[in-house]
Formats: sequence, structure tokens, C-alpha cells
Amino acid sequence: MADADIKKGLAGVVVDTTAISKVNPETNSLLYRGYPVQELAATQPFEAVAFLLWSGELPDAAQLEAFQKSERALRPLDERTVALLDLIPLDAHPMDVVRTVVSQLGTFDETLNRPGGWTDPDLDLGRALYLFAQLPTIVAAVQRRRRGLEPIAPRDDLDYSANFLWMTFGELPSEAAIDVFRISMVLYAEHSFNASTFTARVIASTTSDLYSAVVGAIGALKGPLHGGANEAVMHIFDEIGSAENVVPWLDDALAKKKKIMGFGHRVYKNGDSRVPTMKAALDRLIAESGRTDLGELYDALEKEFVARKGIYPNLDYPSGPAYNILGFETEVFTPLFIAARVTGWTAHIMEQAASNALIRPLSAYNGVDERHVS
Ligand code: CMC
Repeated sequence: MADADIKKGLAGVVVDTTAISKVNPETNSLLYRGYPVQELAATQPFEAVAFLLWSGELPDAAQLEAFQKSERALRPLDERTVALLDLIPLDAHPMDVVRTVVSQLGTFDETLNRPGGWTDPDLDLGRALYLFAQLPTIVAAVQRRRRGLEPIAPRDDLDYSANFLWMTFGELPSEAAIDVFRISMVLYAEHSFNASTFTARVIASTTSDLYSAVVGAIGALKGPLHGGANEAVMHIFDEIGSAENVVPWLDDALAKKKKIMGFGHRVYKNGDSRVPTMKAALDRLIAESGRTDLGELYDALEKEFVARKGIYPNLDYPSGPAYNILGFETEVFTPLFIAARVTGWTAHIMEQAASNALIRPLSAYNGVDERHVS
């Protein structure tokens, strides 16, 4: 096979159809089930977006109320999860902690033991809702634990976004801050066949169970070339320090051929469709918090890097500093991405199961020729 026939990294390869989202780099647009993501970010609670991704339609008022009621009932942590958290080293990376806890949640689900239980679509919808409801409680507990604080119980009177922040900080921030957080969740929810979603689909294609597919997806998301970039952006900001250091820092980083985290995208080559919405949200937080230092650094690095390389920011670039201003620890940024993307992952797992073909590509062998032991 000629090297040219090998699609390394599956770049440019269309492997299946999906009705969940459409990424169009030419028009710089992203649609969830037909709706522009910017419109959803401007108008919808995150619960409505989860409902949309799973069912194909936005909920009406009664459906949303019923959905939120079910989600709220599934929020509290199981005591066995609290016990598991106590066993995990305090300095373990939050991505590893969340991955481990999600794996444990799979062991609580007795319906997996039923004949055909692994792949029953109705059960999978319930499992998706369970993970969606549990992840904020888990992520909030993980951040608090790192700070030596006890977990805070969920509140039934708060929606997804407000409750997430309540459980993390023990107080409610401003309406604007809650709204920025909600927007970030909507923007992170779904993005077609990205690496973690594809990982989930590969696992689902073996007719494995939904929890296993989500655990695999979390592993894929952790890498800084994918979801880990939002954490890595903040490390870069900390390293640079302030706007006037951008030029020498960039000179050095590019001379060492370093990747600048939060820039570039496999699909979008002229800018990420989600960035303007998230940048506007970040600007609201900067104005409210007075963190103009962060805004100046953000603008200076973007201007300088785009001028030199013509490579544009992706969603992780504005979301990293936004999570910093909201008060999240840097190592918890990518777990926030898990909490959002679990909606897209589980929608894809169910879509894969509904018209399954085992995902099993080929490789071209380039090792030593056949040889024998004696
Ligand atoms: N910094 C420096 N150079 C870059 C960057 C970057 N961020 N992104 C691309 N390039 C260069 C790369 O070095 C290569 O140059 P050359 O042709 O001279 O070797 C060229 O651009 C093509 O890059 P590539 O890595 O082959 O392209 P790709 O389509 O495989 O990369 C990417 C996409 C996201 C892996 C890459 O842009 C990258 O590593 N970015 C930094 C990490 C990041 O921000 N990831 C988040 C991705 S989007 C949201 C998400 O998934 O969370």
C-alpha cells in the first residue's frame, strides 16, 4: 500500500453518518440537531440541550419540567462513591479520579446483568441521564476534596448550572457568572466525530456497555491535544504571566517547536465556530471581576500567534480563563468538559448502537519480513 493511501489520524476520512450535529468549517457553523449552537447558547438551559441531543427535539415546557425533575432526583452521590473517593490519592489528577468514579457507577447498575441489558436503548437513555446528573456532583466533590473540604449536597431548587456552582463553591455567584457557565456547557456538549466521541463509538460498536464507552471517552478527552487543552491554556497563561511577556515567551516556545495550547483545530482552519460566543462570555466575566490582566494577556497572545502562524483559537482558549475567573482549579477544567460532553458522547453511543457496524479499520504492516525462530 502506498503511503499516500494511508490516512494517518483518519484526517479527512468520513467514517459514518450522524444526525446529532453538523460541523461546517466553510460557513463556520455548528448545528446540534439542526439548531445553531449560538442560538442554543443564547436561549436554552443546559438540560434542554441534553434533551435535544438525546431525543432530536427541544423539550416543551412540560417535558423540560419532567426532565429536570428526573435529573434532580439522580444528583446525590451514592455512599459507595464517597467511600471510593476516600481511597483515591489526594494528588491524583481529577481526570483520573472522575474516570475511576464513572467506572464504579457502571458496577452499581444491575440492569447490565439482564440478558440483553447492555444494549437496551431505553436503559441506555436512563444511564445517560444518570451520568449527566451525577457528573456535576462528582466534579464538584473532586475540586472540594483537593481543597480539604467536604462535599456539598445538591439543591433541588436550582437548575443544572446554578446547582453545579453551588456544590463547588458553597455559594451562588452572580447571575452573569451562572449564565457564562451555562454557555460553556452548551458549547462543549457536542462536536461530531472528535477523538473522544469516536473512542466512545468504537467501544459501543463492539456491543460493550455505555459506561465502558464513556470511561474510554474520558481517557481520550484527557490528552492536551483534545480536552486537556483547556487546562494547558491556563498553565501557559501562568507561565507567561502578563501581556508584555508574550513576545519573548512566544519566540522561545516557537523556537522549541512547542504547540501553543488552545490554538488550531483538525476541522476548523479559519477559526472555531464556538469561540466568538465563548469569548463574549469571557468578556462579561472580565468586566464583572475586573480581571483585565487576563483579558490583556488573552488578546496579546491571540494577536501575536495569529499574526505569526495564521492559526486561530479553539474553544479551549476562552473557556480556560473563564473557568479560572469562575474559581475552578486549573486541573478541574477538563472534568468540566466531561460533564458537558457526556451528553454528546451518550447520544453518539445510542446512535452507534441503533445502526451498528463493528469499527475495525486496517493497517499497513511495515515491520520486519517474515522470519523464523531457529
Ligand atoms: N501551535 C503551534 N503549531 C501548531 C498548532 C499549535 N497550537 N496547531 C497546529 N500547528 C502547526 C503544526 O505544528 C503543523 O505545522 P507543520 O506543518 O509545520 O508541522 C501544522 O500546524 C498542522 O498541525 P497538525 O497538528 O498536524 O494539525 P492537526 O489537524 O492534526 O492538529 C490539533 C489539530 C488540535 C491537534 C493542533 O492544532 C494542536 O495540537 N493544537 C493545540 C492543542 C489544542 O488546543 N487542542 C484542542 C483542540 S480543539 C478543542 C478540543 O478538542 O478540546
